[in-house]
Amino acid sequence: MGQTARPRVFSGIQPTSGVTLGNYIGAIKNWVDFQGQKDNLFCLVDLHAITIKQDPAELRARTRELMAMLLACGLDPARSIVFLQSHVRAHTEAAWLLNCVTPIGWLQKMTQFKDKSVKQESVLTGLLTYPVLMAADILIYKANEVPVGEDQKQHVELTRNIAERFNGLFGELFVIPEPVIPKLGARIMGLDDPSTKMSKSSAHKPGHAIFLSDSADTILRAFKRAVTDSGGEIRFSDDPLKAGVNNLLTIYATITGKDRVNVEADFIGARGYGDLKLRVAETVIEALRPIRERYEALIKEPANLDANMRRGAEAAAAISEPIVRQMKEMMGLTPAQPSLSV
Ligand code: TYM
Repeated sequence: MGQTARPRVFSGIQPTSGVTLGNYIGAIKNWVDFQGQKDNLFCLVDLHAITIKQDPAELRARTRELMAMLLACGLDPARSIVFLQSHVRAHTEAAWLLNCVTPIGWLQKMTQFKDKSVKQESVLTGLLTYPVLMAADILIYKANEVPVGEDQKQHVELTRNIAERFNGLFGELFVIPEPVIPKLGARIMGLDDPSTKMSKSSAHKPGHAIFLSDSADTILRAFKRAVTDSGGEIRFSDDPLKAGVNNLLTIYATITGKDRVNVEADFIGARGYGDLKLRVAETVIEALRPIRERYEALIKEPANLDANMRRGAEAAAAISEPIVRQMKEMMGLTPAQPSLSV
């Protein structure tokens, strides 16, 4: 896949403990929906996952499961490069180079670093420099667009600053990427607490997040228990007190592809929040059913998943390695000369 007139898209997802409905609505669904129109790279960011302590065997299993899940969701290796970050050396190499143009103060200000570091007994250096690796991911493909949920917007903005700084210091190399945040569904909230983002963190209780691999029963139970409010009005709202209902309607809207007016119309005459929860649950169950079925088939063929990862890595390396070579030259590093001893 060479440089074409089509915008280049890059995005990533961590291979940690399953894919949530938040990941799907905020990111993956949009990757799939637009993949025919763009020049796409989607990366399983295992190097980002290890910024927090991981069990090695678990991480390896989760990584393959994520590959199966992304394909099950509709990422198509014929139309998108889907690959594992650690398979392409250019990412770590570029991250080091960018570390050397990024002021530490920029990293210390990142909200995700502040949030995550308070939860750790010992904060790893990788957690601080995490956004520099993310900047490397995006910049070494000269991506124009980065489709992400709301929580990653700050990191993409930092990437823009790093790119501008590099270009200013060494000459124009990098494209300044745009974050692409969905208008609806950029921040899906926890079902058990609609004031916190739905996240896969194991610190949360069952009923907080829906995972794409959950059974219909589990999904139904989680929605039935979803926290709402003491009122009865089923409409979109910015009122924090109505965050639960707003979240359920947002999930319904993004899954069905309906706009707000049509969504609210669907619930005229509904018998209270019980009805709402049931219908949202059914909609999600039906949407996830084919994904889960495809996943079950794909996960049984690890050799096929591995082959797809390898092909993705080869295609990704072919784009990013020459750009990293250019970075090194621009920064004054001496290119290795071909050996004379043959
Ligand atoms: P990660 O793995 O945490 O999440 C993957 C994607 O899912 C989105 N997301 C959500 N969207 C809506 N509601 C939610 N509750 C929700 N939870 C997660 C995230 O915004 C993200 O788009 N650092 C990134 C991965 C990454 C990356 C990159 C992304 C590494 N390099 C380069 C883009 C470009 C992360 O940890 O995402």
